[in-house]
Amino acid sequence: MLASINPTQTQAWQALSRHFGQIKQEHMLEMFRQDPERFSRFSTQFEDILVDYSKNIITSETKALLLQLADECKLKEAIDKMFTGDVINTSEGRAVLHTALRNRSNAKILVDGKDVMPEVNAVLKQIEIFSERIISGKWKGYTGKPITDIVNIGIGGSDLGPVMVTEALKPYQKPNIKAHFVSNIDGTHIAETLKKVSPETTLFMIASKTFTTQETMTNALSARKWFLDAAKDEALVAKHFVAISTNEKGVKQFGIAPENMFVFWDWVGGRYSLWSAIGLSIACTIGYERFAQLLEGAHAMDEHFRTAPFETNIPVLLGLIGIWYTNFFDAQTEAILPYDQYMHRFAAYFQQGNMESNGKYVDRTGKEVNYQTGPVIWGEPGTNGQHAFYQLIHQGTKLIPCDFLAPAISHNPLGDHHNILLSNFFAQTEALMKGKTPKEVLDEFKKAGKTEAEVKDLVAFKVFKGNKPTNSILFTKLTPRTLGSLIAMYEHKIFVQGVIWNILSFDQWGVELGKQLANKILPELHDEYPVSSHDASTNGLINAFKQMRHK
Ligand code: F6P
Repeated sequence: MLASINPTQTQAWQALSRHFGQIKQEHMLEMFRQDPERFSRFSTQFEDILVDYSKNIITSETKALLLQLADECKLKEAIDKMFTGDVINTSEGRAVLHTALRNRSNAKILVDGKDVMPEVNAVLKQIEIFSERIISGKWKGYTGKPITDIVNIGIGGSDLGPVMVTEALKPYQKPNIKAHFVSNIDGTHIAETLKKVSPETTLFMIASKTFTTQETMTNALSARKWFLDAAKDEALVAKHFVAISTNEKGVKQFGIAPENMFVFWDWVGGRYSLWSAIGLSIACTIGYERFAQLLEGAHAMDEHFRTAPFETNIPVLLGLIGIWYTNFFDAQTEAILPYDQYMHRFAAYFQQGNMESNGKYVDRTGKEVNYQTGPVIWGEPGTNGQHAFYQLIHQGTKLIPCDFLAPAISHNPLGDHHNILLSNFFAQTEALMKGKTPKEVLDEFKKAGKTEAEVKDLVAFKVFKGNKPTNSILFTKLTPRTLGSLIAMYEHKIFVQGVIWNILSFDQWGVELGKQLANKILPELHDEYPVSSHDASTNGLINAFKQMRHK
C-alpha cells in the first residue's frame, strides 16, 4: 500500500508556488542566454536515448524543488513497492507487476509469498514455441496450408499496445505473416478485416484480460461463425483460434482448448499488458527474438528507473516537469509528437496509458482532490501535425507542453527525406522556445522591401511569443530494444505522476458506468416500443433511432 500524502500540503509544493510566482514571466530564451551550460545541465542520456529537457520553463531551483516534492511524496518508497509486488492497486487489491513480465534478470519477485518468475518464463517459452511454429509455417490451418494472417481481436489494452508496437516495428516484420487488429464493436471493423483474409490461412487471437468484454466477445463470436461457415466442423476451431486471458474458465466456455490458451495474471493491468501474452501478435509478426529485445529494452529502463538517482532519472524528471505545468502553469493537455511515421499510434497508445491511469478525481483515501490530476494526452506524427494543429501550439492561448521524439537513423533512408524531417524536428522546438519578436517581424518585412507604414497593422499577427515548453527525445534508431525503453519510460512517467497526485493509477472504474447503461439499453433496442425510462434527451434519441432505422 502506498502512503497517502496530499502533495499540496508538502513544503515543496508551497515553495514551488512561491517560485512559480517569481519565474512564470521569465523567458527561456533569456535563460539560455544567461547559461551557456543549460543544455548539458538539463539533458541526460540513457543508452542511445538522449533526453533534452532544457527547453522548459525551469531553473536549477525549480528542479531542486520538484525533486524535493518527489521525496516528500515518498516516490522512492513507492517505486520499491511497485517493483517488489506490494499490493499498491488497493481499490482492486492487486500488485502492479508489468515489470515482472520483462524482468530479464530473472530475480525473484514474490506475490503472496510465491515467486512469479517461473510462470512468467513458462508463458514466454510458450510464446516462443508458438510464434516459431506460426512463422516457420509448421502450424497448419484446417486444409493443411500455413498461416498467413493473424487477426488479434481485443480492445483497449488488449489491442492498442500490439497495434502500436507492430506498426512501430514494421521494418522487422516477417514477410509471410500479416497482422490485423479488430477492436471496435462496429461490425464494419471485423467485416472489412475478414474481406482481406481467408479462413484456411487465418489465425484468430482472442485477447481479453477478463474474457467478458462485450466488444471482444461479440467480435470473437462473429469471427468463429465466419470461420465455421467455411470449415463446417467445430473441431477445426482449435487450429484457428487461440485465447489470451487471465480467465481460464471463460476461455473454456467459449470453446477454446486449454492448450491454445496463453495466460497472464491479475497483477498485469490491461494498459500495461503488451509485455505479457497479449504481445503474442507482436511475437508472431516480428519473431520471438525481436519480442525479447523489446522486453530487454523495457527491463533496462526499469533498472534505470529503479536505481538511478532522481536528478538524472528520466521518468522521474519527465513526470515532475509534467506536474510543474499541470499544477502550476495550469496546462490542461500534453502532446506527444513522434517524428517517425512508424510511431503513428504511439500517442494513441499513451492516451489510454495516461488517461485511464491518471484520470482520477479522488485521492488514495477516496477523498476528492483539490488540485489537477492527469492531463489530456494527444498527438500525431510530425511533420503531419505541423500542417494541422501546431498553429494553436505556437500562437493559441493555451500552454501545451510537447514531447518531440525522433530517430537519428531512418529505416528508409530515401534521398534527403530524413534530413528534411529532422530539420523540422529541430526547428519546431527552437521556434516554440524562441518565438519571434515584433522587431524581428518588422526586420523581415523590411528585407522583403516593405515600409513600416505598409506593414504596421500586420505585425501583431506574425509575432510568436515563444516560451513554449518542449522535451526532445532523440534516439539512434527505432529498434525493438529502443522502443521497449521508450514505452517503459512513459509508463514510469505515469507512475511518478500518480504517486505525486496521491491517486490510484491502476484501476479504471470510470469506464464502468457507460458499460452498465449500455447493457440496460441494449434490450430496449430489440423491439419497436418507444422508451420512456430515461431522461428526455436519451428517450428522444432512442426513439428517433427506432424510427430512423426503418427509413
Ligand atoms: O474498458 C476499459 C478496459 O477495461 C481497459 O482497461 C482494458 O484494457 C480494456 O477494457 C479491455 O479489457 P479486456 O482485456 O478485459 O477485454
